[in-house]
Amino acid sequence: MIRKAIYTAADEEKLIRQGEIWNFHEEKTQEFLHNLHPYPAKYIPQIPRKAIIDYSNVGDVVYDPFCGSGTTLLEASNLGRKAIGTDNNAVAVLLSKVKTKKYDDTDIANLQDFYERYTELMENSVERPGLVTDDKNFFYWYSPEVISHLSKLKGLIYSVDNGIQDLLLAVFSSILVKVSFQDSDTRYAKVDKEISIEKTDEQFLGKLKRVIKDLRDSNYVLNEEVCVSKCDARNIPHIESDSVNLIVTSPPYLNAYDYHKYHRQRLHWINADIKFTRTSEIGSHDQFTKKKAIPNPYFEDMEKCFREWHRVLKVGSKCVIVIGDAIVSKEPVRVADEFVEIMGSIGFKLDERVIRKLKPTSRSFNIRNSRMDFEHVLTFEK
Ligand SMILES: C[S@@+](CC[C@H](N)C(=O)[O-])C[C@H]1O[C@@H](n2cnc3c(N)ncnc32)[C@H](O)[C@@H]1O
Repeated sequence: MIRKAIYTAADEEKLIRQGEIWNFHEEKTQEFLHNLHPYPAKYIPQIPRKAIIDYSNVGDVVYDPFCGSGTTLLEASNLGRKAIGTDNNAVAVLLSKVKTKKYDDTDIANLQDFYERYTELMENSVERPGLVTDDKNFFYWYSPEVISHLSKLKGLIYSVDNGIQDLLLAVFSSILVKVSFQDSDTRYAKVDKEISIEKTDEQFLGKLKRVIKDLRDSNYVLNEEVCVSKCDARNIPHIESDSVNLIVTSPPYLNAYDYHKYHRQRLHWINADIKFTRTSEIGSHDQFTKKKAIPNPYFEDMEKCFREWHRVLKVGSKCVIVIGDAIVSKEPVRVADEFVEIMGSIGFKLDERVIRKLKPTSRSFNIRNSRMDFEHVLTFEK
């Protein structure tokens, strides 16, 4: 089934025409470390880049409440803004931190050295069962040989005590679904796969080589005033009132994904708290695919976030939201229309709303039996 997945009472054709400036279909989207790690519903860097250039100045504070893989934070940092990110998923926090860190020539040389000496280092690395979770379902997702090999690799990465350890951990995390029996990054189902230790090494080294090249080729200049925290975006007391100049974000799509599931094995490997991630996730497919589910709890959760955004934003500042519509209990839900309504009720003024077309080859949105072709870009002002 192919579905357009856009439901609105507004003039759809007009909004799509006006949204063309947000499409960026001809531009490169994989610069610097943007390609480090797969992430469901990751947006292209051009979206936050445009918002940051249009609506903030050098030195301003940009906040992404659902920072995911860190796309907004990386762009903000490169444009000389201070960046704040929150996400309830430890994988997102790891990636956001790693992508916004500055790497100097010594770090890149250390990465190259790790790459070149990998076989020798792994031969000398011992198996570390203590670094593997004792969760009983974990072994359902990997072959015993791959688990043992990954534990050696994790132990090896833990023994690297210089500025590249977290980056290596993110490279390690990037391959964890590919070398498991999980079908894909957006499908939590077991499938038959032939996964050897050689393939595991090949995946890891392939990604590491690409990362070294991306670091060398890039002309990104990071500001490095970036603060990322693992927390529930409905409650952000660590961010001061009237302190943020711009919010740019793509909230979790209603009934589309289960981040706690897709990243579950990764969360195990990085020793994260899975229960917190699962219970605090907004909009999850698990919750809204239940029989007779209704969308209201999603909007109640989002309203709590919007109220926090209203508190932390300075007067006159903008808030840019990228969101898609949804289906719950077979009924289309006009998510963007509802957002406009709720944001208005808590004191935001709608500045502009358009619809952008996703690039037909965009893979981060490809979920089984569904294809999102369009999404809304909503700009509000406090
Ligand atoms: C659409 S993704 C953001 C992707 C991001 N723009 C990027 O480019 O990678 C939505 C994010 O919301 C996060 N999320 C879901 N519920 C949350 C909550 N209660 N608090 C904070 N983050 C949450 C998910 O973990 C996911 O990373």
